[in-house]
Amino acid sequence: MSPGNGPEPVVDPAPHPAWLPDGALAAVGRRRVALRLPDLSGPARAIPSAGPDDSVVVGTLRAEAERATTVHGGVVVDPDDSPDLLLHLSPDLSGPAEGMSGARPGSPDGGFRFVRDGGRVAVVAATPTALLHGWFHVVRLGEAAFTGPDADERHAPAFALRVLDHWDNVDVHPVMGQVERGYAGGSIFYADGRVRDDLSRVTTYARLLAATGVDRVCINNVNVHAREARLLTDDLPEVARIAAALRPYGVRTHLAVSFAAPMTLGGLPTSDPLDDDVRAWWRAAADRVWATIPDFGGFVVKADSEGQPGPFAYGRDHADGANLLAEAVAPHGGLVHWRAFVYDHRQDWRDRSTDRARAAHDHFAPLDGRFADNVVVQVKHGPIDFQTREPVSPVLAAMPRTRVAIELQVTQEYTGQQRHACYLAPWWSENLAFRPWGGTGGDGDRVDGGDDARAVRDVVAAGGIAAVSNVGDDRFWTGHPLAQANLYAFGRLAWDPTLDPAALLDEWIGLTFAGSDGAVDPRLREVLHAVLGDSWRTYESYTAPLGVGFMVRPGHHYGPDVDGYEYTPWGTYHFADRDGIGVDRTRATGTGFTGQYPAPWRDVYEDLTTCPDELLLFFHHVPYTHELRSGTTVVQHIYDTHFAGVERVREMVAAWESLAELAPGAVPDDVDARVRERLAEQLRSAVEWRDQINTYFFRKSGIPDARGRTIY
Ligand code: GCU
Repeated sequence: MSPGNGPEPVVDPAPHPAWLPDGALAAVGRRRVALRLPDLSGPARAIPSAGPDDSVVVGTLRAEAERATTVHGGVVVDPDDSPDLLLHLSPDLSGPAEGMSGARPGSPDGGFRFVRDGGRVAVVAATPTALLHGWFHVVRLGEAAFTGPDADERHAPAFALRVLDHWDNVDVHPVMGQVERGYAGGSIFYADGRVRDDLSRVTTYARLLAATGVDRVCINNVNVHAREARLLTDDLPEVARIAAALRPYGVRTHLAVSFAAPMTLGGLPTSDPLDDDVRAWWRAAADRVWATIPDFGGFVVKADSEGQPGPFAYGRDHADGANLLAEAVAPHGGLVHWRAFVYDHRQDWRDRSTDRARAAHDHFAPLDGRFADNVVVQVKHGPIDFQTREPVSPVLAAMPRTRVAIELQVTQEYTGQQRHACYLAPWWSENLAFRPWGGTGGDGDRVDGGDDARAVRDVVAAGGIAAVSNVGDDRFWTGHPLAQANLYAFGRLAWDPTLDPAALLDEWIGLTFAGSDGAVDPRLREVLHAVLGDSWRTYESYTAPLGVGFMVRPGHHYGPDVDGYEYTPWGTYHFADRDGIGVDRTRATGTGFTGQYPAPWRDVYEDLTTCPDELLLFFHHVPYTHELRSGTTVVQHIYDTHFAGVERVREMVAAWESLAELAPGAVPDDVDARVRERLAEQLRSAVEWRDQINTYFFRKSGIPDARGRTIY
């Protein structure tokens, strides 16, 4: 790496390998690898069909084994020739794998069996895609896959549906650009107003996703503009090309569609979900999609939200709307991901009775039980909008008779836009582990609950998980090279939400920075943990305090602007005045939002003395002198965290810079240059946040910093 301001690094034009550099496959690539397949061609197929992708994914498995062994000196051998690693496609995971012992009974769909016997490994799966996930499991384990004690394990994803949503536009949108909330260049799917000719990068992306376990991608923005709406009709052959590029790695394609499509594309006079012509139009549209793309996944819909059309225009509700599409896709086994992000974005800021946080629950909870089986109601993790800190959405606990999915944001819209290093897995993990009926709450608070010990991750088991991708056509995929860790961790948490975020970070480091022999310099490992491990909390500490949310520049959401949203129609206010700050969402005196939670949280949040500090201003309006549970006052907490946050960023910068001496050459020059550039901006921005926020609250409150530090 080049310390200081050395010459510009030579930039390799190929996309960065992310967590699959050749070195990451050293352990498997050095070995004797075999693939055992049943006859896939005959009429009596020996394996249960996973869809039309079977043979192409089998081809991928062969190519993976060939490539890894060619690079690292191993060899692909016959399955009967004592391989070190046997990839075995078999309908029966319960029988002993060939030459292996210690079988245990069946595995759930989509999973694989991992058997190690005397240092030899067999992965057995019933579908090619599951076998591919098993292959990448062995890749992740590296040498440890072969050196551990004898084992016979089942691995299956906790969520059946693991989706990445791309907010990519076909045409460059005049305000939102090519990728809405995208911070990594253009789209990997579209350029110049159409689907790219060369989609090889899409296949490379699918490979990265397969290595984490994500197996569905929605390829266009939930805000479906006129051009993008046509993906459903005129452009289907182009969508089919994208599907073909994702398919080799077992990734299925979904489309975001416009609820008004029967009118805008079909020329009908209405989009009323109960109108027979509308229903027929959607059925015909779905028939065409599946005729063109037999393994198509389904539709994603943003309706009655931020200007998108929806069923409200016809006096219908969201169950009517979702079921209309569900009926159309059902004959094809398709899904409808229907978003619960529905609120009034034309609110009068003078109106203190309307509360955006309440909206999703108000609209959706009463509809529980009315959604078709193939509808997944997709709920943002918090009641507002992917903030750095907000409580878990009460909708997640309010719809026991509905398939509910949790939606996360990997793209860092509100968390530094991939200019700031902000490793989000600890935040997601907290949300997934939250127990709506009691147990462990945010920040380790323990709250006793009733008998229901389920966590959010259990509640969404059937509906699964979705997230907005952070990927673009940037060489590093994600703008900030270290933001790759977020995409990786999302995929792994989607497979197993109980995984430890620090361990996932370590896993990502081990793969991404693997040298040609598969090893990673331990000092680099240490530095990356120092930079990323606590970066979400660091980001929180120098931005918006105590769960207050929105204090960003309106529109583009980067950088501090305390009153930026205060007098706007967006429903996101902090109500700071000379005496205090925060939103009263209590039942006693506020908007009543606390009442949307089951016990015990409805009472924990309601009561100032039990509400967790980090969410205080989300639920309560308090004086600046209010004493937090931590013992400090609100205003002093604001000052302290902002000063400390900037110091933490300085430490992150210093840690990264120490690499030049500690581990020269451990990071490629171009990665180093990009990370340095981003860290410099993070420090500049953190200082700006600190000074603006502290100054704002000092001027409002007139209360000086107890430690006399500089405030302007
Ligand atoms: C946020 C984001 C929008 C996006 C919306 C959504 O509000 O700023 O760009 O369209 O979320 O999730 O639909």
